[in-house]
Amino acid sequence: MENVFSLFALTSVIATILTLTSPMAHTEILEVISKVRNVANEGLKGIEPVLLVSASVAASIGALWLLDVIYQDEPLTSRTKRFIFTLVKKIPQVKAKIKEETMKAKESIEEEMNACCKELPQRLSLPEEGLGTEGAIAEATKYLKVIGYDWEKGCLSGTVYNHSEELSKLAEKVYGLSAYSNPLHPDVFPGLRNIEAEIVQMVARLFNGTNEACGTVTSCGTESLVLACKAFRDYAMHVKGIRRPEMVIPVTAHAGFDKAAELLRMGIKKVPVDPATMQCNMRAMRRAISRNTCMLVASAPTFPHGCIDPVQEIAQLGLKYDIPVHVDACLGGFLIPFMAQAGYDLKPFDFRVKGVTSISADPHKYGFTPKGASVLLFSHPKYRDEQFFVATDWPGGIYASPTIAGSRAGGPIATCWATMLRYGVNGYVESARKIVSQARRLEAAFRQIEGIHVLGVPEVSVVAIGSDVFDIYRLQSNLASKGFKFAPLQFPAAIHLALTHFHKSDEVIDRLIDVVRTEVKELLNDPDVPATGSAGIYGSSQKVPDRSIIGDIAKVYLNALYSIKEDKNEN
Ligand SMILES: *Cc1c(COP(=O)(O)O)cnc(C)c1O
Ligand SMILES: *[C@@H]1O[C@H](CO)[C@@H](O)[C@H](O)[C@H]1NC(C)=O
Repeated sequence: MENVFSLFALTSVIATILTLTSPMAHTEILEVISKVRNVANEGLKGIEPVLLVSASVAASIGALWLLDVIYQDEPLTSRTKRFIFTLVKKIPQVKAKIKEETMKAKESIEEEMNACCKELPQRLSLPEEGLGTEGAIAEATKYLKVIGYDWEKGCLSGTVYNHSEELSKLAEKVYGLSAYSNPLHPDVFPGLRNIEAEIVQMVARLFNGTNEACGTVTSCGTESLVLACKAFRDYAMHVKGIRRPEMVIPVTAHAGFDKAAELLRMGIKKVPVDPATMQCNMRAMRRAISRNTCMLVASAPTFPHGCIDPVQEIAQLGLKYDIPVHVDACLGGFLIPFMAQAGYDLKPFDFRVKGVTSISADPHKYGFTPKGASVLLFSHPKYRDEQFFVATDWPGGIYASPTIAGSRAGGPIATCWATMLRYGVNGYVESARKIVSQARRLEAAFRQIEGIHVLGVPEVSVVAIGSDVFDIYRLQSNLASKGFKFAPLQFPAAIHLALTHFHKSDEVIDRLIDVVRTEVKELLNDPDVPATGSAGIYGSSQKVPDRSIIGDIAKVYLNALYSIKEDKNEN
């Protein structure tokens, strides 16, 4: 549509200029035009005027329709593909097969999910008579003691970044003091307001923010990403007049950006990474920038491979084209600011880099605070203003709120602050020293093992491995049976481990290296066997061209989260 209008506008501008300027200067052009006109008139002589008019109208409408079909948010190719897949899925045999497979998946996923909770009573409705405090605590203890993995032994990738009796005691005490507070009412809870403001200042300083740096505490990394996207979307629309703001991100950036694009109806363009370094391909990013680009993204480090995108180069692009740059340090936000002091130098990644306009960092990952706390920082309040939400005309009053939530939990904010105070700079430096050194040790050992390779150059706490010789998901499944749960990655097929507090001990790392070495050796004996069972799922799912089938299965999983045990279901 827009293109048609611009075409109309352009022709009328040219026509006006031709009429207004001296006709003498354009005699040659006018001659050509008149020749064309004569030829056209000659050719159309015998045709009825009504027919001519209707044909022109029909052609214009047709052109508009065609342009509307071609120019949509979703590229034509992917729409065509989706259309064809939808047709194919209407074939009865295909439909039946998909349904059968989905039902099978549903059964096995639900069974697996409920298996651990067999011993628990099942409460499907509120008890008629309240259990009382003691009863409720007893019941909660019974449920929460059911744990799927012995994560204190270092078997998990990420997930629980730290835990101890002592940290629990701190959280218990401070959460107890703040459980009923709500930052939505700063007049009622001025101390809590102060706590949140202090967290923002402390983290802004970790990232070398200037006096203008500002931010908010949110409930999770994803919320921070969504709010960063909202701020830059609205900044683009309000300040720069961009009508369809679009973000440009490396494919390795967190899925939270996809969520943001969907929620905020923003365009999202993904650029590939360099297969050797797994860092953003800068040429591709430069080419992806258009006049609709409202933000660029760098991860420090990325979730999949633990590599740090070239923040300085991305920031330079941002400066050159006047586009805000977000650095997603959700994962490593409480490691990278301390790495220099821990003896590991990194290229600048924070507000020292001119052009970096926002940073997200999660205390609830390597800050070791209880879940429910992330920090979103901006280099300047003009961006944060666009993050805020205000409803001026609501009968319930003038409603203003900084983040996505309305009422907010004060508990996670207060425990976050207290846990940060407990560690202090030295605590985090010490922790970074240990975790990063173990990650480097693991990386070096993996590079020595024949049959696997390390993806990119991991710089922080995540190490990803793949194999050109055997199906890497077979290794994942064998490692899981030996007590190490690596996380599956895809495109390319790989698995990774995000080291946590529980990998600080040499003993755990030694055992891990040993187990990987043994299992890889084993697999090299029969490298061509395909993965089976759940290990096969990831391998084969990457080959399914219709991603909506994968999406449907993922929704089966989400539905299963709310499933209840079969036997009780029938009563
Ligand atoms: C974990 C993570 C996020 C999202 O954080 P949540 O708290 O899980 O929402 C964003 N970016 C990166 C790089 C992450 O690792
Ligand atoms: C940046 O912050 C770090 C950590 O807080 C600090 O050690 C360093 O001196 C700061 N650098 C600059 C240039 O301000």
